[in-house]
Amino acid sequence: MGVWKLITVAAALAVAVVDAAALEPRGQKLVKSDSLRKALKVDALYKKAEILQDFAYSSPDKNRVIGSQGHQDTIDYLHDQIAKFPKYYTVELQPVPLVVGVSANLTANNKTIEVYAVTLAPGGHVTGPLVAIPNLGCEDADFPPSLKGSIALIFRGTCSFGVKVGLASSRGALGVIAYNNGDGNLKGYSLSLFQNDTTPYIPTGGISRGQGEALVAQLEAGTEIIVDLTTESKTITSYNVIAQTKGGDQNNVIHIGGHSDSVTAGPGINDNGSGSIAILEIAIQLTKFSVNNAVRFSWWTAEEEGLLGATYYVAQLSQAEKDKIRLFLDFDMMASPNYAFQIYDGDGSAFNSTGPPGSAEAEKEFTHYFNKIAKLNHTEIEFDGRSDYGPFLEAGIAAGGIAGGAEGLKTEEEVLMFGGASGVQYDVNYHEDGDTVNNLNLECWIEMSRAIAHMVATYARSWESLPPKTKGSVKRGVSDHKKTKAYQRWV
Ligand SMILES: *[C@@H]1O[C@H](CO)[C@@H](O)[C@H](O)[C@H]1NC(C)=O
Ligand SMILES: *[C@@H]1O[C@H](CO)[C@@H](O)[C@H](O)[C@H]1NC(C)=O
Ligand SMILES: *[C@@H]1O[C@H](CO)[C@@H](O)[C@H](O)[C@H]1NC(C)=O
Ligand SMILES: *[C@@H]1O[C@H](CO)[C@@H](O)[C@H](O)[C@H]1NC(C)=O
Ligand SMILES: *[C@@H]1O[C@H](CO)[C@@H](O)[C@H](O)[C@H]1NC(C)=O
Ligand SMILES: *[C@@H]1O[C@H](CO)[C@@H](O)[C@H](O)[C@H]1NC(C)=O
Ligand SMILES: [Zn+2]
Repeated sequence: MGVWKLITVAAALAVAVVDAAALEPRGQKLVKSDSLRKALKVDALYKKAEILQDFAYSSPDKNRVIGSQGHQDTIDYLHDQIAKFPKYYTVELQPVPLVVGVSANLTANNKTIEVYAVTLAPGGHVTGPLVAIPNLGCEDADFPPSLKGSIALIFRGTCSFGVKVGLASSRGALGVIAYNNGDGNLKGYSLSLFQNDTTPYIPTGGISRGQGEALVAQLEAGTEIIVDLTTESKTITSYNVIAQTKGGDQNNVIHIGGHSDSVTAGPGINDNGSGSIAILEIAIQLTKFSVNNAVRFSWWTAEEEGLLGATYYVAQLSQAEKDKIRLFLDFDMMASPNYAFQIYDGDGSAFNSTGPPGSAEAEKEFTHYFNKIAKLNHTEIEFDGRSDYGPFLEAGIAAGGIAGGAEGLKTEEEVLMFGGASGVQYDVNYHEDGDTVNNLNLECWIEMSRAIAHMVATYARSWESLPPKTKGSVKRGVSDHKKTKAYQRWV
């Protein structure tokens, strides 16, 4: 921790202490949409974004990726901010064990190839003949009956790499080499699925597309290739930060979530600093009010590696605990520079993919907010489970959310609706080092934050607009087809 950063954090904490004293009076008024919205200020959001950026830039690789100092500082900061309100919130740090890649070395017939250890795969030293797996390695049929003693070479794409490594392992492969389907190296790449007992993972290294294709060409020409792969990994404990109001009905909870980590490439200030800060600020301002229904806020770890923090959290919940969550709302990329106000299509009207009962009503409430209260244009985006709400959908929990846009291109029609530039990504810095405070769209951010505040206040007051809850909900998530799509971001 740099001295300079210590001062910044200390100053921020000093402000929060004053707030806390003022914010926990007795006899609070029941929360209302407009009062919670009015409590949100752009300056307060921006200052917190600067703090996260300082955490990133004080970290050796200038990011907040899991396992980095920048990420741990973010977790501590979120926890400390919310723990300033001990009368209002119960705060929990949920440990999440994660196996992260440290380093790797690879030779093919004694020739060194640049390689990175893949997150969630174990460390180890393996050597053997290289076997190229045809197609994408997502199906049983792609694999020869026995890979005993060999190293499988598999192309990236379509299914999560955990599926591919699981299949290779079940055929007796000793290790796997993943090769990229896009530009660049595979630094920070993840198997995206937790290992299960039936298919323990094996050492996995990631190489570039060019290197992979060259190896495939040699194999096809009949050259035998002996590879030697060493990977080092370490098990780290990362944390989900979870806070729940002590007030309100604890059995009918509105759950709001964001993620605390960034990608390797940059500080991750829009993705997803903007979402996590917006919900932190709402959580702080909410302490000025009372609630009828409990409100739970979560900041997930390891979203960028395949929704791991949220997946772990949902997997640990008993059915009785799942049943207490009436609605989970997800907020991603709230300040995209070339934004559109995008509402998840929870009723399937635009993209034919719906969620559990309550998801359509959440979309309707957002739509009502944008149309009637904010009087702002909005579009719909596919309800595909592409962010931390995916595991909730799969567990049969209603979900919803809004986004400012990621790597998609803005249309001309959207330029008429929102301004900005057509044919340009909603966020040109998506997953790049330019995702900094300088590139946040503050107008988008405050409007999005107000929309979140509206939803929090509405459901903290009453659940009457949602269908009655059904206990022991069976799986009612998106269809398998959609689930596959859901993970395309990481595969
Ligand atoms: C890879 O090689 C480098 C340089 O020799 C070494 O520092 C590093 O520890 C090696 N890593 C593994 C996993 O073998
Ligand atoms: C690799 O190098 C070792 C020793 O330097 C040698 O014994 C071995 O035959 C080489 N393997 C290949 C495939 O060239
Ligand atoms: C274990 O994971 C593999 C993919 O890695 C999957 O195909 C298999 O169905 C899983 N088994 C269980 C019992 O979850
Ligand atoms: C962004 O943050 C929000 C809340 O802060 C979270 O719900 C969401 O999953 C995050 N998503 C992404 C893709 O970063
Ligand atoms: C919508 O999805 C359902 C099942 O997922 C399918 O049967 C139906 O044909 C789809 N409708 C359209 C218009 O794509
Ligand atoms: C909404 O979009 C229309 C074009 O479809 C535009 O004329 C109007 O000005 C926009 N309204 C706002 C509030 O931006
Ligand atoms: Zn819709």
